[in-house]
Amino acid sequence: MAALCNRFSKACATITNRHFKISTYVRSMSNVPENTVYGGPKPQNPDQRVTLTSLRTKHRKGEAITMVTAYDYPSAVHLDTAGIDIALVGDSASMVVHGHDTTLPITLDEMLMHCRSVARGAKRPLLVGDLAFGTYESSSQQAVDTAVRVLKEGGMDAIKLEGGAPSRISAAKHIVEAGIAVMGHVGLTPQAISVLGGFRPQGRNVLSAVKVVETALALQEAGCFSVVLECVPAPVAAAATSVLRIPTIGIGAGPFCSGQVLVYHDLLGMMQHPHHAKVTPKFCKQFAQVGEVINKALSDYKQEVENRSFPGALHSPYKINTTEVDGFLKELQKMGLDEAAAAAAEAAEKVEANR
Ligand code: KIV
Repeated sequence: MAALCNRFSKACATITNRHFKISTYVRSMSNVPENTVYGGPKPQNPDQRVTLTSLRTKHRKGEAITMVTAYDYPSAVHLDTAGIDIALVGDSASMVVHGHDTTLPITLDEMLMHCRSVARGAKRPLLVGDLAFGTYESSSQQAVDTAVRVLKEGGMDAIKLEGGAPSRISAAKHIVEAGIAVMGHVGLTPQAISVLGGFRPQGRNVLSAVKVVETALALQEAGCFSVVLECVPAPVAAAATSVLRIPTIGIGAGPFCSGQVLVYHDLLGMMQHPHHAKVTPKFCKQFAQVGEVINKALSDYKQEVENRSFPGALHSPYKINTTEVDGFLKELQKMGLDEAAAAAAEAAEKVEANR
């Protein structure tokens, strides 16, 4: 029992503010053990692995938390190399990877495939997997079952779910009680575009702004370790960040959040998806124009293949010596393949001439 307490020590804190008396349990580890109480396949350096503990420390010190979406092994390796704190396997994959118009069509199986690929590439960041639309709304039991799969089959450390309706708060609470860390998501919740009437910013009138803050507080009370604030005015995000003890992660929510998140393709300027290409979210700064680099590389490749300058000698590494070539030509001739023998001889001469 003592060992269990060591491994999953729960910090119970109670805060009182103008609206709420909040008791919340905060899970102190990611699902990869950071110490050797139970040992592990290999020793881990607690300074390197991002856990809820290290995120809490960062937040307490007022240091900004960085989060970026990742969907596959290469993007995960890039996030890891850059030292990003949290890799979010977002259901934005539905749009930026699968080419759908919304986040609604992506399935749990598709999300699990993305999660596994990211888990192979990102060893240091905390890994958070989105619960896909239609996989957690029916009941808290369904939400727990899906969250368990995201950890067991997807290799994630935590899950994220959208919204703050009472059933969603209850789902968050049940998932935390099942031992799974939960990140909330309020403001513009893309899975709810049907009721929101499109990708619309939230919190732009008193009622809506108060709802953002109250929902974030309710998610904290349910045990969430962090809340994403999407597309809300900066003063609303500032209020939520001030009232919460857990970190807020903003996207289109201004600078006063505890951390920031952007979609990988948006921040790199990859722009494949028509929604992002034509209507780049106003809040998104493109830190590179990787899409232009990709387009140029592909058209250079096409041109060089078409004019036969690729592959040249530098990219034709496999050699055959003259004795073997002569033997090969004789064999071809014996087989009655004179034209093939002539082609091979001509190629051998050109290769020799280009050395
Ligand atoms: O799916 C996603 O990419 C997200 C971020 C926008 C926070 O939920």
